[in-house]
Amino acid sequence: MNKQNESLVSPNDIFGKLEQIEKQIGNTPLLEFINTKGLYIKQEACQFANSIKVRPAFHILKNAIINNELTENHTIIESSSGNFGIALSMISKYLGIKFIAVVDKYTPEAKLRMMRLFASEVVVIDKKDQHGGYLLNRIAFIDKYKESNPNHFHPNQYTNPNNPDSYYCGLGQEICDSFDKLDALFVAVSTGGTVTGLSKKLREKFPNINIVAVDIQGSLVFQNQAQKRTLSGIGSSISSVHIKTTKIDTVMILSQDDIISGCKELLDEEMVFGGASTGAVYAAAKKYKKENPNKKALIISPDDGKSYMDNVYLS
Ligand SMILES: Cc1ncc(COP(=O)(O)O)c(C=O)c1O
Repeated sequence: MNKQNESLVSPNDIFGKLEQIEKQIGNTPLLEFINTKGLYIKQEACQFANSIKVRPAFHILKNAIINNELTENHTIIESSSGNFGIALSMISKYLGIKFIAVVDKYTPEAKLRMMRLFASEVVVIDKKDQHGGYLLNRIAFIDKYKESNPNHFHPNQYTNPNNPDSYYCGLGQEICDSFDKLDALFVAVSTGGTVTGLSKKLREKFPNINIVAVDIQGSLVFQNQAQKRTLSGIGSSISSVHIKTTKIDTVMILSQDDIISGCKELLDEEMVFGGASTGAVYAAAKKYKKENPNKKALIISPDDGKSYMDNVYLS
């Protein structure tokens, strides 16, 4: 909200509420590792809704409200593997707007419980699509809902330019303000919103930066062959428009086992309790740092390990 609008908003109208949420987003901790000097982590779990996804969720809803595309009379509907759904469900409840979260069988129980606490409805898709995942059926459910419910708002994180823009404006700016020099950035990908926004923003200050996108084996963001995946957050059954237009320097594909080992090493070596994506970018960045010990690198940690107790941290 800008200064001009500030005096016009009352704390309990929708713009007052947006301001209240905005104060709790961003300025997340930045930590240098002890065992790998010159490697930093941005801890996105340390903000409202406990994940990176609050940034696009808030930015998309705020802009839709400002542009009158979203009012209290609409129902928000969105497909999410968890974090985006949690962020949307918390924000929409506070704003007094109905929200239907469309998730699937791989959504961790802890994330489902959060969504059930805040969303108006949680739909769990349990029929697999032709790639062996659930995303296409999640999207089909939403398309059908939209046909018979004209008063809907679909944030559509796979196509909405405010998804990457939230990272360009928010997280990207914070990173640029924190470093004088940065040689490499490691980002886990799904919709590609994070890597797209950050690639654009960081190149403005660090033109020679190596933007590394990290994905899981069997995801279709960069690969053609789908494979069974059971970790949520990282990877996707489609490649988004964001990814197609983004300048990425290096792609690293890790196996599910590599990612799980990355999470456990991160906990043992640096006392950071990360989610699957965090383990993935840590494993990728450690490889890079071995070959480039004098380079300065940053990994983005989208969420923490609490939702991964039944897979990553099971044994
Ligand atoms: C845990 C986790 N990792 C990675 C990602 C990928 O981010 P993006 O959709 O911006 O590519 C997300 C996004 O939901 C996430 O929640």
